[in-house]
Amino acid sequence: MAIRKIARMGHPVLRQPTALVVDPTAPEIARLIADMFATMVDAEGVGIAAPQVYESMKIVMFYTPEDAAARPDDLRDKDFAILINPVVTVLGESREAGWEGCLSVPGLRGRVARPAHIGYRALGPDGRAVEREARGFHARVVQHECDHLDGVLYPMQMDDMTKLVFTSEWKHFAAAEGLDDGEADAENGQEQEKE
Ligand code: NI
Repeated sequence: MAIRKIARMGHPVLRQPTALVVDPTAPEIARLIADMFATMVDAEGVGIAAPQVYESMKIVMFYTPEDAAARPDDLRDKDFAILINPVVTVLGESREAGWEGCLSVPGLRGRVARPAHIGYRALGPDGRAVEREARGFHARVVQHECDHLDGVLYPMQMDDMTKLVFTSEWKHFAAAEGLDDGEADAENGQEQEKE
């Protein structure tokens, strides 16, 4: 297990389409997953995708805390998922806007509107099929991480660039929107607001 360097916006590895994982149970995939987890925890992120550690493969992992403002110390194993070769399907037309951050876009936050209700299927690290529906923060983090597998970073999903701000200035928006500004830089935003 090793903490890897995290690719930052502008590096081509973040823009490449990723390859399907042929054998999710292969030892080298288990090693990569362990490295991704160590890297995510070290960076205090709530999710990470393989391209962020310079591996152009379809692997993501993320926490889905019930309390979307949870800090890393509050996160629980039961709310953690590892997805290999995930496929996301949008269910329903409603969209929600929420603030997001990304380990590959350090120091910034942006408000992104995304489908509020999705389904996803994938393989787990044991090779078994996983199929779930997600709403709220869970739906947001899945879409953010799976976007990485298509070479998409959250600023590319924003429709209002006045809401792309430095983390240190986010308090101005948080105050206006009644949000808690205590959260440090995380892979994904925490507070949501219907739009
Ligand atoms: Ni990200």
